[in-house]
Amino acid sequence: MKISWNDFVEECNSCHACPLAETRKNVVIYRGSVVAPVMFVGEGPGANEDEEGRPFVGQAGRLLQLLLDAQGFSEKDYHIANVVKCRPPENRVPTDAEAAACKKLLGKQILIAKPKIIVLLGKTAYTLFTGDKNAKMTQIRGSFIEKNGYLILPTFHPAYILRNNNERIKLWQDIEVARRKAEELGLMEPLPAQPDMPTSRPGSR
Ligand code: URA
Repeated sequence: MKISWNDFVEECNSCHACPLAETRKNVVIYRGSVVAPVMFVGEGPGANEDEEGRPFVGQAGRLLQLLLDAQGFSEKDYHIANVVKCRPPENRVPTDAEAAACKKLLGKQILIAKPKIIVLLGKTAYTLFTGDKNAKMTQIRGSFIEKNGYLILPTFHPAYILRNNNERIKLWQDIEVARRKAEELGLMEPLPAQPDMPTSRPGSR
C-alpha cells in the first residue's frame, strides 16, 4: 500500500501510541527533503525540537549541520528523523516500549523517503535497527551493514561529540564515508576538493 506524505504527517500528528504523546508540544517528524538519498536517524527530540517541531535544531543539531554543510550535503540530499517523534521528559533515553511504539511510523517514513543510505546517530538508533543492545560504538562505527536493501552506517550521536570534542574527527569521517558512498552510487555530486573539518563549536541558544 502506498501512503502519501500528507497522510503520514496526519498519522504522526494524531498518534497516541505511547505516553510521550501526553507531554509533547509538537510531533517532530523530519527536516531536509521528504525523498532523499541519505537518511539520518537520531534518538528523540529535545526541548528545542519539541518547541519547533523539527529534529536536530538545538546545539547537537547545529553541530550536525556544520559537518553536513562542510561535507557538501544540501537539503535535497538528506532526510533527518529520530527513533521517537515525541520528546521524552527530561531528555531521557526513550524506553524500549516507546521506541517499539514509534517503529511502525519510522518504517513508513523510510518507505516514503526512499534513502539508499541510513546513518544511525548513536546507540539508541543502532539498537532499534539491529536489536543489539551491547555493541560498543567505538567498534561498530564507520562500517556499512546491509539490511533489507539499505546501507546502514552507525556513528556517534552529535550530542556525544559535543561532550567529547576530541572525537569529532570520527563523526566527520563517518559523514564523509556516507557522502563518498552516495557519490559512488551516483546519488550526490562529487566535491571539487577535499573539505577540512570545521573546528568551531556551535553556539548554544
Ligand atoms: N537529539 C536527537 O537525537 N534528536 C534530535 O532531534 C535532537 C537531539
